[in-house]
Amino acid sequence: MSRNILITGGAGFIGSHVVRLFVTKYPDYRIVNLDKLTYAGNLANLKDVEQAPNYRFERCDICDYDAVRAIFRKYDIDGVIHLAAESHVDRSIKDPFTFARTNVMGTLTLLQSAREHWNGAWDGKLFYHISTDEVYGALELTHPEGIEPPFSTTASSTEHLAYGADFFYETTKYNPHSPYSASKASSDHFVRAYHDTYGMPTLVTNCSNNYGPYQFPEKLIPLFINNIRHRKPLPVYGRGENVRDWLYVEDHARAIDVIFHRGKVAETYNIGGFNEWKNIDLVRVLVCTVDRLLGRKEGEDMDLITYVTDRPGHDMRYAIDSSKLQRELGWEPSLQFEEGIGKTVRWYLDNQAWMDNITSGEYERYYEEMYRNR
Ligand code: NAD
Ligand code: TYD
Repeated sequence: MSRNILITGGAGFIGSHVVRLFVTKYPDYRIVNLDKLTYAGNLANLKDVEQAPNYRFERCDICDYDAVRAIFRKYDIDGVIHLAAESHVDRSIKDPFTFARTNVMGTLTLLQSAREHWNGAWDGKLFYHISTDEVYGALELTHPEGIEPPFSTTASSTEHLAYGADFFYETTKYNPHSPYSASKASSDHFVRAYHDTYGMPTLVTNCSNNYGPYQFPEKLIPLFINNIRHRKPLPVYGRGENVRDWLYVEDHARAIDVIFHRGKVAETYNIGGFNEWKNIDLVRVLVCTVDRLLGRKEGEDMDLITYVTDRPGHDMRYAIDSSKLQRELGWEPSLQFEEGIGKTVRWYLDNQAWMDNITSGEYERYYEEMYRNR
């Protein structure tokens, strides 16, 4: 079956992996990547697929109702995978308005455009919204002391360890704390409201922290890999005790593929890695891995770790139970963390030009120039 699929935020971190997967796996689909190219959007993330005959790019703000509706008409869109968002918690603390605008109003604009274009003919249509586990709030850290990291700092074993008795389930009540998670929670509610009110076929998934290639280096893992390489300080918030559940980004993209094609309409699925890490333990693994791959003495850069003032409202622990997805659709993470983090560190070290292009601001100047001249 041929399909016209709109992927929003396809020039970002996760979106670029989803676009790549769909463009290469489904040659009969037309994949339209709609992205505003904010500071976080970078078409260099898609260099390897940009010439594919089934790929189109539209630079567009998801808040621009007329432009979004025109794209629905132009490509006769029948499926949406919505990832475009402002995604960094620290930025949301400084500038909550931008988060409300893009994440709430942008999502609503897309929903309304889809509703108008599909005009009640819901058969074969789907609006799939990508969200985060951060909407559930924070879990307690019930074993804060005296627990060994899941594996040693040489990353040699991969036993799963839970830092608490509780997890986020699909039924967990929303309790967002940051402006980012509040805006994502609001957008999730709008998506469900479009199903319940108008009958639009929708799906929502809530995923844990992703890591892997092409992540913007404001987020912990790429920022710290780059800083270790250049021997810059590693600013660990608070005591570094906060726990995150890390999932390799290609596993998230695979889950999105499975859910887009086989997920039950109006359902919610949690996606996670069963892979909890205290920030400080993860940072130690990063230091050792970067040192080793650069031929330095393993651990010699440990003194770059610098404890800094904690993030306001810093959620203590995220841990996702994704067994519903495993049980009902047969998805599970394919990569052990040891392998995933090794691949990730290697990728950033091998792609220094990609990183330099971002840290110098060169890529943003390039797009401004390119689009000014159109
Ligand atoms: P990202 O910041 O790397 O990319 C976001 C993309 O959206 C960029 O390409 C940007 O240009 C685009 N965008 C932003 N505002 C836009 C607008 N107004 N109009 C059109 N495009 C716009 O984000 P990411 O980490 O890839 O996250 C993608 C989605 O996945 C987000 O919805 C996020 O909430 C969700 N998510 C992320 C994680 C994670 O760990 N990164 C985990 C779970 C869920
Ligand atoms: P981040 O990658 O920003 O993702 P999120 O806040 O969405 O979980 O941060 C991951 C964890 O790392 C989080 O607990 C905050 C912490 N952190 C630091 O300690 N220092 C940093 O410089 C950054 C960016 C994050």
